[in-house]
Amino acid sequence: MKPRILIVDDNEKNRILLSSKMEADGYEVDMASNGVEALKKVDEFHPDLILLDIMMPQMDGYEACRRLKSKEETRYIPIVMLTARSELEDKLLGLEIGAEDYIVKPYSLVEVSARVKSLLRMRALQARLRESEKMAALGEMVDGIAHEIRNPLTSIGGMARRLYEHENDEEHKRYAEAIMKSVERMERMMQRIDEYKWILVSNLKPGNINEVINKAVEEARGIIGTKKITIKTELMEEPPAFYMDPTNLKIAIFNILQNSIEAIADEGEILIRTFAEDDNTIVVKISDTGAGMDEEFLRHIFHPFYTSKMTGAGLGLTITYRIVQDHKGMIEVESEKGKGTTFTLRFYILTGQPMPAL
Ligand SMILES: Nc1ncnc2c1ncn2[C@@H]1O[C@H](COP(=O)(O)OP(=O)(O)OP(=O)(O)O)[C@@H](O)[C@H]1O
Ligand SMILES: [Mg+2]
Repeated sequence: MKPRILIVDDNEKNRILLSSKMEADGYEVDMASNGVEALKKVDEFHPDLILLDIMMPQMDGYEACRRLKSKEETRYIPIVMLTARSELEDKLLGLEIGAEDYIVKPYSLVEVSARVKSLLRMRALQARLRESEKMAALGEMVDGIAHEIRNPLTSIGGMARRLYEHENDEEHKRYAEAIMKSVERMERMMQRIDEYKWILVSNLKPGNINEVINKAVEEARGIIGTKKITIKTELMEEPPAFYMDPTNLKIAIFNILQNSIEAIADEGEILIRTFAEDDNTIVVKISDTGAGMDEEFLRHIFHPFYTSKMTGAGLGLTITYRIVQDHKGMIEVESEKGKGTTFTLRFYILTGQPMPAL
C-alpha cells in the first residue's frame, strides 16, 4: 500500500505543486485548504504524514497541529509545518506543540521530498518499536501468570503421586493417577507458554542452520528416555546464512523432533537432512519412522490445542508454524499411517540484496 500524505494549504498553487511532487514520489495524496477541513480529512483519509501550512483562514496550522497531537489516534502522525521566513521565530511554537519538523518557505520540492521520506521511515521504525514493547509487556504478564501457576501445580502433582504410592484402594489409586495425568498436561501447557513468550518477539540476524539443528538434536536426544531411537543428520557443508532467530528456530525444530520421538513406540529412526534448492532456498527435511497420521488428521495438526496425546498441549506445532512464518519460510508435512512422517521446511536466502526491513 502506498503511504498517504495529506497536504494542507489555503493556497491552491502550493497544493498543486506539492501534490504533483508527492504523487511523483509514489505517495497517495489528499488535500485540505484549512485546519477544520484538515481534521475532517485526517479521520477519513488516515494519512501517514501531514504537510501543514501555518497561515490559513478558519483554523490555522498551529491549532490543527495542537488538536491532532492531543488525540491518541492521531498523535503519532508526523506533521511537517510549512513556515514563511517571516514566521521563522514561530517555528519553535510549532515544534513545542508537537510538530515533527518544519520547512521554511520558499522551499525546494527536493527538500520536501527528502524530509517526507526520512520522517516516514522514522515513523515505521517507531511503530515497530511500539509493537515490540507491547509484545514484551504481554510476554511479561504471561510469564508472571505461568510462574504463579507453576508452584501450586507442582504441589498438586507431588501430593497426587504420594496418594498414588500409599493408597491400597484401587479406585482411589485410579483417581490419583487421573490427577497426575492432568497435571502433566498442564505442565506441558506451561512449557508451551514459556516458549510462546520467547517467540513473541523475533530477532532476525544472519545465522547458520546447521548450528541450530545440532542444538535441537542434542536437546531431543535428552528426551529419548528408554526408547531405542537413533537421530541421524545429513547436513550440507557450509550452508549459506539466512536471516533467522536461532533461539526460536531451535524451538521450531525441537518441537518437530519431540513429536517424532513421541510417535515412535519403542524403536525407530529420525533423519534430518538439509540441502539447497533453486539457488535461493534452503530445505530442512525431518523424517521419522513413527506411527504416522491419516489425511484427515494431517489437516489440523497446526491448529492450536489439536492433540492425540493424553498429556499433550496441542501447541508444539502451532508454535513451530508461527516461527517458520516469522522467518518468511514454508512448512509442509507428509505422512502415512504406520509408516512415518516427514516435515519439510523451506527458508529463503537473500542473495546480493540489502537486509529486508524487519
Ligand atoms: N511426527 C509425527 N508423527 C505422528 N503424529 C504426529 C507427528 N507430529 C505431530 N503429530 C500429531 O499432531 C498432533 C499435534 O502436534 P503438536 O506438537 O502440535 O501437539 P502435541 O504434541 O499433541 O502437544 P505439545 O503441545 O505438547 O507438543 C500430535 O498430538 C500428534 O497426534
Ligand atoms: Mg508436540
